[in-house]
Amino acid sequence: MIKKNVSIHYYEIDSVDLLPKDEQELVRLARDMTNDAYAPYSVFYVGAAILLENGKMVKGSNQENGAYPSGLCAERVAAFAASANHPGVSMKKIAICARSNRLEVKNPVSPCGACRQVLLEYENLQKEPLKILLASENGKVIVIDKVDDLLPLSFSGNGLKRTS
Ligand code: THU
Repeated sequence: MIKKNVSIHYYEIDSVDLLPKDEQELVRLARDMTNDAYAPYSVFYVGAAILLENGKMVKGSNQENGAYPSGLCAERVAAFAASANHPGVSMKKIAICARSNRLEVKNPVSPCGACRQVLLEYENLQKEPLKILLASENGKVIVIDKVDDLLPLSFSGNGLKRTS
């Protein structure tokens, strides 16, 4: 038996102001999107904004439903909107931000497992990294170079494709 390690690196930045201008705007958009979230059940408001390779930005927010599992996270709302409305256009960066009425969201919120899986498939499809910016309410930002870093040893749908 061989023990193997997986390690990732990410960056922590104290202030949004230290990011390049396009990323600052993306984070601002994700933060604004928390105001449009439909989250009456969790009152946890998440916003996401995706920068496409053509410079357009696609927005998303979490959308809940009284039948709880029917709702969707902000990241997937944004990613599905991007793919549906701009098919074949690469997603360069995604910013994610959260706030709550109940508690202070001190640390940046990281995408759930299902969102990582969805984002990773788009990243693999486009063969270009999708950079992730996780922004907290106090301005701190975590930057991750690519989705693959967030989901090591991932499941790939490739094995499901027919070869003949
Ligand atoms: N949520 C997101 O939109 N993104 C995340 O990364 C984590 C969780 C949403 C789902 C649900 O509407 C609420 O936050 C509480 O889990």
